[in-house]
Amino acid sequence: MTVGSIKENIKIERRVAITLESAKNIIALGLNINLEKDYATHLGISDKQFEALGVKFYDSSSKVINNSKLLLKVDCPSDEEIKFLKEKTILVGIFNPAKNENKLKEILKKNINIFSLELLPRISRAQSMDVLSSQSNLAGYRSVIESIYEFEKAVPMMMTAAGTVPAAKVLVIGAGVAGLQAIATAKRLGAIVSATDVRAASKEQVESLGGKFLTVEQDENLETTGGYAKEASEEFKKKQTDLLKEAMKKNDIVICTALIPGRPAPRILSEDLVKLMKPGSVIYDLAVEQGGNAAYSEIDKINIVEGIKIVGIKNLMNKLPLTASNLYAKNLFSFIRNLYSKEKKDFIINLEDEIILKTLIKE
Ligand code: NAI
Repeated sequence: MTVGSIKENIKIERRVAITLESAKNIIALGLNINLEKDYATHLGISDKQFEALGVKFYDSSSKVINNSKLLLKVDCPSDEEIKFLKEKTILVGIFNPAKNENKLKEILKKNINIFSLELLPRISRAQSMDVLSSQSNLAGYRSVIESIYEFEKAVPMMMTAAGTVPAAKVLVIGAGVAGLQAIATAKRLGAIVSATDVRAASKEQVESLGGKFLTVEQDENLETTGGYAKEASEEFKKKQTDLLKEAMKKNDIVICTALIPGRPAPRILSEDLVKLMKPGSVIYDLAVEQGGNAAYSEIDKINIVEGIKIVGIKNLMNKLPLTASNLYAKNLFSFIRNLYSKEKKDFIINLEDEIILKTLIKE
């Protein structure tokens, strides 16, 4: 049984689906691997290093596709790649079904089983496969690094003979996986950190990282049974705006990470709230691809409004593709291990397994 992977379009996606470590693990499971020539050279990993592990290379993506039973990808295949896909292939990646509905329908017509890992149930057995967590965690970290790069002052407090530099203040809106890592990173770099979220449960997590939690006093339960946020009521939004008015004046950097699954990102920072910040402040909107939490945030742009920078970079994983690939490839390996039966020497699509059922894309 062979697992294959082809090159992504590295102008838009620098991550890879198979790394040296995951290749070793896949081979140890009893599977073969096919890769396309120059598969990860842009990350400093040569074909020779893969070949030393027993990986076979082909000089075109179509040959890899033709000779593999299961195909690992990062993004959705291109129209050209879809043409080459052959019947009964298994395709695994992060395919964003809401955005790529037509492409995925095209693939399904070819009788292909597509597994999209952002659909994984958040159960403990699926934690090692959880691509949303592994990538969001890195996005949270990197958003702080990027913000500090854009911020033209020092972050930690410094007492020097020339005077004292005050610590920068960082506010994190949305304390899920990305937000919690942003809090931890900003703390490590010496900032004074506060955070807010609609889910009451996040208060304890923020405080355990040394952040101050800004609570919107309210009676609604804004958490689903699955632990996600619900859309807030108009009354809640008003209270949140009042709370943020003071916070925006005080903070130097705001990291926005608030998302509601399956919906556009909530618009939390209006134009007026943004303009309350001091000139030289930075807003980093990680939710930009889902419509953004902040006014003035646009995909792949840095907008400057009254001296405040509003940053909205789309694929942040391209800024740390090696770490992102290492974690993503491990997630994929865990998924394959669950799909592959060593006894039957085949991939078994057992729809009684919640992980398989929920990630399988149906028409
Ligand atoms: P997410 O990426 O969907 O949302 C980010 C954060 O934004 C969430 O904390 C959400 O409550 C918050 N938010 C939404 N609307 C908001 C608003 N109007 N104002 C302020 N904050 C707002 O969430 P993520 O990071 O995927 O995690 C959500 C939940 O899933 C958490 O409870 C987390 O602990 C849980 N989780 C469970 C995992 C597992 O069991 N394997 C793995 C990862 C997360």
